[in-house]
Amino acid sequence: MARILITSAIPYINGIKHLGNLVGSQLPADLYARYVRARGHEVMFICATDEHGTPAELAAAKAGMPVEEFCADMHKIQSEIAQGFRLSFDHFGRSSSQRNHRLTQHFAGKLAENGFIEEVTEKQVFSIDDNRFLPDRYITGTCPNCGYEAARGDQCENCTKQLDPTDLINPRSTISGSTNLEVRETKHLYLKQKALKGEIEAWIDSKTDWPVLTTSIARKWLHDGEGLQDRGITRDLYWGVPVKKGDEPWPGMEGKVFYVWFDAPIEYIACTAEWADARGLGDEAWQRWWRTDKGAADVRYVQFMGKDNVPFHTLSFPATIMGSREPWKLVDYIKSFNYLNYDGGQFSTSQGRGIFMDQALSILPADYWRWWLLSHAPESSDSEFTWDNFQQSVNKDLADVLGNFVSRITKFCAAKFGPAVPAGGQYDDRARALIEELENRIRAYEDHMEAMDVRKAAAELRGIWVAGNEYLQASAPWTVFKTDPEAAAAITRLSLNLIRLYAVLSEPFIPDAAANMLAGMQTANRQWPGDVAGALEALPAGHAFTVPEVLFRKISDEERAEWETRFAGVRG
Ligand code: 2FM
Ligand code: ZN
Repeated sequence: MARILITSAIPYINGIKHLGNLVGSQLPADLYARYVRARGHEVMFICATDEHGTPAELAAAKAGMPVEEFCADMHKIQSEIAQGFRLSFDHFGRSSSQRNHRLTQHFAGKLAENGFIEEVTEKQVFSIDDNRFLPDRYITGTCPNCGYEAARGDQCENCTKQLDPTDLINPRSTISGSTNLEVRETKHLYLKQKALKGEIEAWIDSKTDWPVLTTSIARKWLHDGEGLQDRGITRDLYWGVPVKKGDEPWPGMEGKVFYVWFDAPIEYIACTAEWADARGLGDEAWQRWWRTDKGAADVRYVQFMGKDNVPFHTLSFPATIMGSREPWKLVDYIKSFNYLNYDGGQFSTSQGRGIFMDQALSILPADYWRWWLLSHAPESSDSEFTWDNFQQSVNKDLADVLGNFVSRITKFCAAKFGPAVPAGGQYDDRARALIEELENRIRAYEDHMEAMDVRKAAAELRGIWVAGNEYLQASAPWTVFKTDPEAAAAITRLSLNLIRLYAVLSEPFIPDAAANMLAGMQTANRQWPGDVAGALEALPAGHAFTVPEVLFRKISDEERAEWETRFAGVRG
């Protein structure tokens, strides 16, 4: 048994997330967490809301609420939606927690002590019409790297380059659209990432098993152009972690806060402390996940995120950890994702385009979405949501293959043998061939899950369902029953056991359906299959069951058309 620490990129607080955000981090992280738990490992699965920065301030202003209240409400909403999608976080924390304040200030203090912080008087864009300094992401302009016209001052979402607002061509205020901007002087702290470049590079080079998507983005920002740059880690804002040097005030930095991208990843650690606090546990309970001097040396730490987050997790956050010169855990594996597009365009939070998590749950249960999103995860390239593809995938994979298998065999058994696993008969050649096929497929499924190859794992799971369905179809116990009830009993017993086996294997993808299948089979046996023949004897003859409710219903053409129209526009 291993100990596995899993973090999902923490979603911004400023609004409800869309399905593209979900499939880029939280959902695949949940899939992996559920899988490794099922394999008996000790897991800590962490996520939180990313609450600081201007997006939060502006969203609160728009809602006419104090930012503290807005964040508290939105955290609750995001937390409920996460539960709706069955995201099995051990803790869903808040980057505005006192734990994160203290830890962020602690890291800044250590970085300063070790000579990795520089105070820089810099020029910053001030919007005269808005009467405020404009934070990086509230300046829009043309990317100097790729020419994208709607690049933000902190990063171009088209080419992922991290930017400074003064790099932008034709800058304007994102708040008001005003171009009446001027540059004023202000003092900020810089993290001297350049001084850590050699260490970061050696560390990235040692990660030979990382996905190419992750390392290629990291290497690009290490080497392209001028290479890794020092980064400003403070801002002239109200809402954030006040700048302090550990517990001490930081002269000259009064009224400033840390940059949201400095404190957000530190929340992974702080959130684990919040988890311990919520359970009345001492510091050693969370430190054994994070401090290599306190037991975390044997923890495997895996992060999940969209590709736009990769530079911050491969360069900036490691620079914070390394520069602290304290024994904090560095990430062991970064699984990153491309983008999910929506019906011929992009999902967009700012434009309200696509399907948002609350809307999705208002029309269909979580498993339908989980299955489609995970089986179409944007791994090797961007992928696209279309209603047609969604309908086909749900109707075929979930309703026709898995759902139909379960309902057919349970109904048949209840009608012919009664509501208990029937006795008698022997496995025939077909049964033996099925067991052999499942043996191979389950081992392949495990390999894909270990490797976090989400699409391949989904394809293998579908293959496992299909194999059972084909076995049942070819064995036709309803026909055999007429001439050889014993043989029909053996087929039925095997098939009923398959339902339990399918529940166990499918749980990481479709946890509600898995729970319904186990409830129907009246068993709490979630034992992962070692040898398949043994696993197919878990429910012995005489074991009672009930016919489960319909597991998955089909999506009709009318519904598909209606949803397509309903979600074609932008969210109000
Ligand atoms: O892209 C995002 O949604 C960011 N809020 C992710 C932050 S991940 C981390 F640094 F904590
Ligand atoms: Zn660009």
